[in-house]
Amino acid sequence: MENQIENLVIPQHVAIILDGNGRWAKKRGLPRSFGHKEGCVTVEKTVEDAARLGIKYLTVYGFSTENWKRSSDEVGALMQLFRYYMVRLLKIAKANNVRVKMIGERARFDQDIIDGINRLEEETRNNTGLTFVIAVNYGGRDEIVRAARKMITDGIEGRLTAEELDEKKFASYLDTAQIPDPDLLIRTSGELRLSNYLLWQLAYTELYVTDCLWPDFNKEELIKAITAYNGRERRFGGVK
Ligand code: IPE
Ligand code: IPE
Ligand code: MG
Repeated sequence: MENQIENLVIPQHVAIILDGNGRWAKKRGLPRSFGHKEGCVTVEKTVEDAARLGIKYLTVYGFSTENWKRSSDEVGALMQLFRYYMVRLLKIAKANNVRVKMIGERARFDQDIIDGINRLEEETRNNTGLTFVIAVNYGGRDEIVRAARKMITDGIEGRLTAEELDEKKFASYLDTAQIPDPDLLIRTSGELRLSNYLLWQLAYTELYVTDCLWPDFNKEELIKAITAYNGRERRFGGVK
């Protein structure tokens, strides 16, 4: 495996739609929450693998604006897991020089979760290795609407004019301001859709879908995705 990695171009920014936790649990006759728990372990390992591979940005979809529609039991279990893993993540981030950033509308969470998110960001802000971005209560459309609201306010208060607004300026109002667009998107468990993820940012991202369920994802699967990425001819609308 090491030899194979040596010859690979490592994408700067990898975005992941982690999917299949529920199916993983169902296959084993377990409640869905077991799949989420195992999925958190996979997130931890993937952060470490990505940092060691030299990926600069890893953005993982943890909870969408649509996921509130799930049963209150499942949402409750996810919130509990979130509380628990924020503490673990702080340790992992410190041990691996990882900077953590959350995107999405955090105001909808309970105050202790908001405090935990702020603490994670604050205490890892000077780390210089991988930037680990977690999308929670995140929706691409919601992000764009929130950005538009801020632009309108800035317009009314004289900080922004219509002429000034271009793609670069627009992007600076998104939650991902300062973060380059993803080079590679990985979706696990076979679904061929974006599920409201990074709608603006994925404009020219290479897509990779694997049937592997998220709790089964590992370094080998990550390298498979990066290998597929290495075989792509990126174009951005031009020709070679
Ligand atoms: C992804 O796994 C985790 C979240 C969306 C929180 P799912 O819970 O969507 O698992 P499946 O798609 O039902 O298998
Ligand atoms: C996408 O997975 C959201 C996250 C991974 C957090 P979903 O399982 O919620 O997406 P759909 O419902 O299959 O589109
Ligand atoms: Mg799913």
